[in-house]
Amino acid sequence: MSLVTTKEMFAKAYNGGYAVGAFNVNNMEIVQGITEAAGELKSPVILQVSKGARAYANHRYLVKMVEAAVEENPEIPIALHLDHGDSFELCKSCIDGGFTSVMIDASSKSFEENIALTKQVVDYAHDHGVVVEAELGTLAGVEDEVAVEHGQESYTRPEEVEEFVSRTGCDSLAIAIGTSHGAYKFKASQCTRNEKGILVPPPLRFDVLEECIKRLPGFPIVLHGSSSVPQDFVAMINQYGGNMPDAIGIPEEELRHAAELAVCKINIDSDIRIAMTATIRKYMAEHPDHFDPRQYLKPARQAVKDMVAHKIQNVLGSAGKA
Ligand code: G3H
Ligand code: 13P
Ligand code: ZN
Repeated sequence: MSLVTTKEMFAKAYNGGYAVGAFNVNNMEIVQGITEAAGELKSPVILQVSKGARAYANHRYLVKMVEAAVEENPEIPIALHLDHGDSFELCKSCIDGGFTSVMIDASSKSFEENIALTKQVVDYAHDHGVVVEAELGTLAGVEDEVAVEHGQESYTRPEEVEEFVSRTGCDSLAIAIGTSHGAYKFKASQCTRNEKGILVPPPLRFDVLEECIKRLPGFPIVLHGSSSVPQDFVAMINQYGGNMPDAIGIPEEELRHAAELAVCKINIDSDIRIAMTATIRKYMAEHPDHFDPRQYLKPARQAVKDMVAHKIQNVLGSAGKA
């Protein structure tokens, strides 16, 4: 199988009550860890590349590594997606350069400007057999150069989604229902504490999601900022010299519920970063005399694989759906 778009993946996910994981890739170990897990579990998967990833690893290297992963895993559908494209030129460069899906994120612009830019990308993408994800509403957190302070985020307005989708022709829509980017998704003051003193975040706005679904029947919804920030790995990072106080994510049960509804794509990046960093910190602390990068990147790659396998089985529900 060669790289595919997300069209068929999303149609099957929508009808099957599961979601496809979209995992960010920046280097070989991440590409291998993700696709080995998806391959073994016979799960469709989306590999996504941010503007920052392209700046770090180079577009050509990333595409070639993803193509190698496709050859290694011929039995599963794999899509290559641009994450948070912020201009027509960036989207065009990825469309021309082998991606099968792009996101144009004009969510920080006005409604009309968002529509105009999204439509420009959709017209070009569809002419080239590529699908487009757009976004309405803004998430808190940091992605590339865009930082949105907690309190400045805004939930998607369901009354806008039909007009947006019909005027732009986009293929999927990312909405804001309380998820956010990074490892610090909520301030302690936004949370309650359970009987063990552990922070419990405010619930996602399922009412906003349900209202969007009602207005866009059959249409794939996307959730960004969907890492759960596993506390065992955060504790491991802190134990081995790191400092990540009050890191907190989205509870996995809430994401599982969203996947059963119309959410067809769930974006996860921070959890992979956290798993790799915790594993490398531990390895370094326990092997102070080692200096061959393969020695610590091997368990780090295994940690990526284990994390993605866990997500496929416990959050996305996409095992066996290839
Ligand atoms: O939403 C953003 C992703 O986590 C990518 O992050 O821009 O640091 O590559 P990045
Ligand atoms: P996390 O930071 O929650 O992993 O979100 C990643 C994301 O939305 C990438 O677009
Ligand atoms: Zn995102």
